[in-house]
Amino acid sequence: MNVKIQLLKEMINESKKIVFFGGAGVSTESGIKDFRSADGIYMMDYKYPPESVLSHSFYVQHTAEFYDFYREYLCFPDAKPNMAHFKLAELEQSGKLKAVITQNVDGLHQLAGSKTVYELHGSALRNYCVKCGKSHDFDFVYKSNGIPKCECGGTVKPDVVLYEESLNDEVVSGAIKAIKKADMLIVAGTSLTVYPAAGFIRYFKGKNLVLINKDATAMDENFGLVIHGKVGEVLREAV
Ligand code: OAD
Repeated sequence: MNVKIQLLKEMINESKKIVFFGGAGVSTESGIKDFRSADGIYMMDYKYPPESVLSHSFYVQHTAEFYDFYREYLCFPDAKPNMAHFKLAELEQSGKLKAVITQNVDGLHQLAGSKTVYELHGSALRNYCVKCGKSHDFDFVYKSNGIPKCECGGTVKPDVVLYEESLNDEVVSGAIKAIKKADMLIVAGTSLTVYPAAGFIRYFKGKNLVLINKDATAMDENFGLVIHGKVGEVLREAV
């Protein structure tokens, strides 16, 4: 076994309050594209800069086009959890892992069995009518055409945090509390470029701070252990 993975394994063995903080790279092994890799969503040629489509102002100004993009690139009806999701659920069940904090909206951690999941950017599985507040499921939005409309006539909006929108206070405080209490923080599959999420890492005061990421990030030097690799493959070996 690779020396770094062996070290990760030892850290996991000695830790009692592990928190995992992940991003889009956690789901690429489930066939979901991330945003900023060479083949990521933000790198593709699209009629609008893809990053701008996921903003509140674009949603307001070009609502129908937002939904076209959203259904095509942010909805994954057939995606299944991968080894990263399953190993984290296993670690939680064994009592070692206290929380998963994710920037993903695909619900795959819960599908793998994780219970304490802080979804910083919301979930595509929850959708609400902006007029009457009625909740609608994933299929309601995914299978509708154009702008999804509630029976009351209001637009049904995914519970996904767009640029210019704020994060849910309860989710943020739960995530920060978990990080503050952790003795090990595993950060994985994230470019650590989107705030406030990326800044939460500074609340960690525990011993073992680990980064597992395919590519280098601007924050690599802040971590005690950096493994450049695929998170599913790394966790398969280490857990
Ligand atoms: P990014 O696309 O910015 O970064 C994903 C990172 O994961 C990259 O650094 C990849 O190198 C790495 N990666 C890809 N596959 C991997 C794998 N199998 N194992 C390990 N690492 C892998 O995604 P995020 O950091 O999650 O917001 O982006 C943050 C936010 O930006 C997203 O939540 C999204 C986006 O705008 C919203 O949609 C609200």
